[in-house]
Amino acid sequence: MSAVLDAPLAALRHPIVDAAFLADPYPAYRALREAGPVHWSEEFFGGAWLLTRHADVEKVLRDARFSAQRTGGWVRNAEAVPGELSRFQQVFARAMLFVDAPDHTRLRKLMNAGFRPELLQRLAPFMEQAIDDLLDAVEGAASFDFMQAVARPLPMRVMTRLMGIEAATHEAFAAWSDDLSAFIGAPAPTRELARRAQTSLLAMTRYFEEELPHKRRHPGDDLLSLLAQAEAAGGIEGGAELLAQCAMLLFAGHETTRNLLGNGLKALLDHPAQWQRLQREPALLPGAVRELLRYDSPVQYTGRRVATDLVLHGQLLRRGDLVVALIGAANRDPARHAQPDALDVAREDVGSLSFGSGPHACIGAALTRMEAQAVFGALLQRWPGLRSADGVAQWNGNPVYRGLNALNVQA
Ligand code: HEM
Repeated sequence: MSAVLDAPLAALRHPIVDAAFLADPYPAYRALREAGPVHWSEEFFGGAWLLTRHADVEKVLRDARFSAQRTGGWVRNAEAVPGELSRFQQVFARAMLFVDAPDHTRLRKLMNAGFRPELLQRLAPFMEQAIDDLLDAVEGAASFDFMQAVARPLPMRVMTRLMGIEAATHEAFAAWSDDLSAFIGAPAPTRELARRAQTSLLAMTRYFEEELPHKRRHPGDDLLSLLAQAEAAGGIEGGAELLAQCAMLLFAGHETTRNLLGNGLKALLDHPAQWQRLQREPALLPGAVRELLRYDSPVQYTGRRVATDLVLHGQLLRRGDLVVALIGAANRDPARHAQPDALDVAREDVGSLSFGSGPHACIGAALTRMEAQAVFGALLQRWPGLRSADGVAQWNGNPVYRGLNALNVQA
């Protein structure tokens, strides 16, 4: 039996998140993956284990010895004055994404009802109309920014419709969500990022506090009504638990879908033969969306906390240690995907980890895939000769929610 290492086997001496990484993280992931299965890095949240292999990332996401409850240290690290972020932590920590069974199982079961296939099907005509409206608005332009024209506004319109919220709030929600993304996406969040995230999360919760009584009195078949009814039936606690789910839903579906649309379109336009193949064989579109998710994932990593001392690849991981599961690296693991750096819209058995895996696997996966298929399908049909008008890609600099600030295209 090989010895168990207590001290980190391979502590990274240099930070990996620099300008080159933010433009293209895949060479760094490959170097890490090839150097060994487990690395210790001080760069993430004051110290964390980094995992890059598909099998390891999947294991961490599926194994109950790795807890999803991880916001405490994260928030505390960003406090200059103890307690200044306690209101933020109170709500943030209750979001389904950050809780374990049995609370997670209870919340997940309840929320699944809001994502039933027939509800999503009912949303399809609204979504297609929204896409048509957004594309009509730029029809005839010499060039346009796809992020501003489509990728940013569309997911919020769809999400607010699903939740049963007024359209007038789109811009405010998008801005609040951006503040949460900036906080979650920072490997070592500053006090300023954390304070902004707190202000925005609390603004979101105030909105929902005002909206929920109306949903209690006049329930519809939207997600917010479902949550309000679950509260009345005792399935979810009022206050922080309820408000956390409302805010998380809006936030989780906004930036991620925006970046699937942007990263996906960029990848297709960078590979004209793949774009043309989709034109000839539109039946490939559902598989192509899975491949685009794998190729340049909108969520590049997630975290877990070690719940009990355990050994992984001969390395001792102690209870309380943080693990960073690098989804973006796992998706390019040659042990799982043949020619992982190639984009192939006809790839079989894509099976990426872009939506996570196990109990916390993305609840919005089907919705988001439907949205991306509808957008790419509409673009292929309307502008077969679409091409990129950008010299240098304008990446947003967020290592978790990798995406573009702008993607200028010519029809
Ligand atoms: C391209 C789009 C999306 C991507 C790449 C994505 C990615 C992910 C990932 C990786 C996780 C698991 C995180 C973890 O295990 O730590 C997750 C969970 C989640 N996602 Fe998504 N997501 C997307 C869209 C959406 C949408 C549209 C919604 C809402 C309508 C949504 C709601 C959620 C929620 C609520 C969870 C937590 C589930 C749980 O804890 O049980 N996501 N997502």
